[in-house]
Formats: sequence, C-alpha cells, structure tokens
Amino acid sequence: MISLIRITAENFDRFVQEILAIERVSFPSPWTSEAFREEVQRSFSSLWALTDNQELVGYICFWALAGELHLMNIAVHPQRRGEGLGRMLIDRMITAGICEGIDCVFLEVRPSNTPARKLYRQVGFREVGRRAKYYSDTGEDAILMALQLNSGGNTGTLTTVYTLS
Ligand SMILES: CC(C)(COP(=O)(O)OP(=O)(O)OC[C@H]1O[C@@H](n2cnc3c(N)ncnc32)[C@H](O)[C@@H]1OP(=O)(O)O)[C@@H](O)C(=O)NCCC(=O)NCCS
Repeated sequence: MISLIRITAENFDRFVQEILAIERVSFPSPWTSEAFREEVQRSFSSLWALTDNQELVGYICFWALAGELHLMNIAVHPQRRGEGLGRMLIDRMITAGICEGIDCVFLEVRPSNTPARKLYRQVGFREVGRRAKYYSDTGEDAILMALQLNSGGNTGTLTTVYTLS
C-alpha cells in the first residue's frame, strides 16, 4: 500500500537515512541530514514521505508562505521512477495548496533536468523567468516555473496526512 506521511520531529529518525540515500543519488549537491531536520522544524515547511509497504519510495518538501507554495525538493527512488510517483507527490502538494487557499506554486529547476521539467509542464507549470547562475555547483541558471491555483480562498490545513489506496 502506498502512503503519504508527514515527517515531523517525532518520526524524522525513522525516515532520514532512506531519504539521504535517495537524495545522494538524485542531486549533484544533495541536502544533508541537518538540512532536512531544519525543514521539519520550520513552521511553514512541509516534508512528506511516500512509502510503499513501509519502504520509502520518494519525498517532497515545500514551503507555504505569503499565500504561495514553493517547491523546495522532490525525489523518487531511482528504481521506482516512471511509475507516476513523482506526479502523485506533486498532485498531493497542489491539493494541499488548494485546500489552504494558496494562489500560486513556484519552483526552480535546472534547464538540464528534462524529466523534472516535463513532469512540471504536465502538471500545468509554466516557465515565468530565469534566475542567473542560481546553482553554485554547476553555475547553471534556474528556470523559474509557476502554477496558478485559483483556489478561491478555500481554507484548510497543510498538516493533512494522506493515506492512498
Ligand atoms: C523528477 C522525478 C521526481 C520524476 O519522478 P517520477 O516518479 O519518475 O515521475 P512520474 O513517473 O510521475 O512521471 C510523470 C511525468 O514526468 C515526465 N517524466 C518523468 N520521467 C521522465 C524521463 N526520464 N524523461 C522524460 N520525461 C519524464 C513525464 O512527462 C511523465 O509523464 P508520462 O509518464 O505520462 O510520460 C524523478 O525523475 C527524480 O527523482 N529525479 C531526481 C531528482 C530531481 O531531479 N528532482 C527535481 C528537482 S527540480
């Protein structure tokens, strides 16, 4: 069974090693354990684990600030890519944003990251700008993408934990 679990200070240790294993094979400059711990301590940050039969298959981290969501991190286990799990994580973030009355979602992506760019475009994100030399490890620009939610002032909570069947 696939489950989406909010990571908190209480269950952080249960997930952190599996997150770091995926993070290290997914990014040229992976986040550290401390970076993930900081996210669970931030009131405006959400870090969710996607598990399949108790095993971590992906995660997503996003901020909710000033009526906007900002996608900070997303990765799927290399052996589980192409199964729709990345799409599932993004869709759930968007659903949470709509419930919260969020207007817009922003993210940065490397121009070289074709899989991620296609995923974001498929969900409806559009390129709205560039951030020059945003990635200090490669000197690459970032493409800034945005998705308008038009959630119409709904109210809800970003602490929702989803269990997917
Ligand atoms: C980007 C990432 C999260 C996508 O996760 P995923 O579970 O493989 O993606 P999905 O299976 O949900 O695919 C959804 C859509 O994304 C696009 N996509 C995914 N993988 C792709 C690939 N290798 N090549 C081209 N498009 C791809 C497709 O449009 C796909 O839709 P389709 O299956 O109908 O063609 C995953 O590749 C990953 O973890 N990459 C490393 C970390 C990373 O780059 N994160 C993004 C930082 S901005």
